[in-house]
Amino acid sequence: MSRVALVTGGSRGIGAAISTALKEAGYTVAATYAGNDEAAKSFTDSTGIKTYKWNVGSYEESKAGIEKVESDLGPIEVVVANAGITRDAPFHKMTPEQWHEVIDTNLTGVFNTVHPIWPGMRERKFGRIVVISSINGQKGQFAQVNYAATKAGDIGIIKSLAQEGARAGITANAICPGYIGTDMVMAVPEKVRESIIAQIPAGRLGEPEEIARAVVFLVADDASFINGSTITANGGQYFV
Ligand code: CAA
Repeated sequence: MSRVALVTGGSRGIGAAISTALKEAGYTVAATYAGNDEAAKSFTDSTGIKTYKWNVGSYEESKAGIEKVESDLGPIEVVVANAGITRDAPFHKMTPEQWHEVIDTNLTGVFNTVHPIWPGMRERKFGRIVVISSINGQKGQFAQVNYAATKAGDIGIIKSLAQEGARAGITANAICPGYIGTDMVMAVPEKVRESIIAQIPAGRLGEPEEIARAVVFLVADDASFINGSTITANGGQYFV
């Protein structure tokens, strides 16, 4: 039986590429989305991957959604916490609402996604957790105090989960994508985006598929000794 993988924010952008790559690698995939019904429907129509709608910022919604996925597809053995948003503003203009929205989705959302699944992984003595962090959690970014805090927090989460899960056959790793050609990056003003691309030694934005292939690598059964690591995929823009 194929392993069941849950990908949050899995119907668009990097998440869609991850869902698709996992399906191609033989996993049974459930992709969550927060609001864009049309994109989710067309994703399901074109890939056959089931989509589920819930807000990862809500523990109750996440727990109920995960129960539904598990009753439809079976126990979740692979989790890719990918859902994320930006609310960019220079710090002097950043509102408490912008801070909380990003913290709730990007950071508390990881807790809400992994926590309900964790006990089952411990019981079954197998689990693969990948959190999609960001280059901006490693280097910081002008106008992203909120976002960078969450993405740096992701790395603290996986380093801690790696220690707690290792003896139960669970690994937790992070991927830090650089600037990838998704809606999120395309929403950055064009002039700013051009100046960012000029800082990428590869001379281009990354492709969502270039992140997805790292996920497939990390969740494999024989990746069991890779635990607590952070893979950087940013075209050479920043080294830790
Ligand atoms: N470094 C230093 N100064 C900068 C700067 C930077 N990177 N970006 C802007 N500034 C300066 C501006 O030049 C301006 O200076 P002056 O007042 O002297 O002209 C000042 O900061 C304030 O600029 P604005 O008044 O234009 O600020 P704003 O309130 O309109 O906000 C912005 C504009 C939100 C910062 C916009 O420029 C922006 O979106 N920047 C991109 C931020 C970014 O890179 N976000 C990443 C999104 S993609 C992502 O997050 C995915 C991932 O994981 C990689």
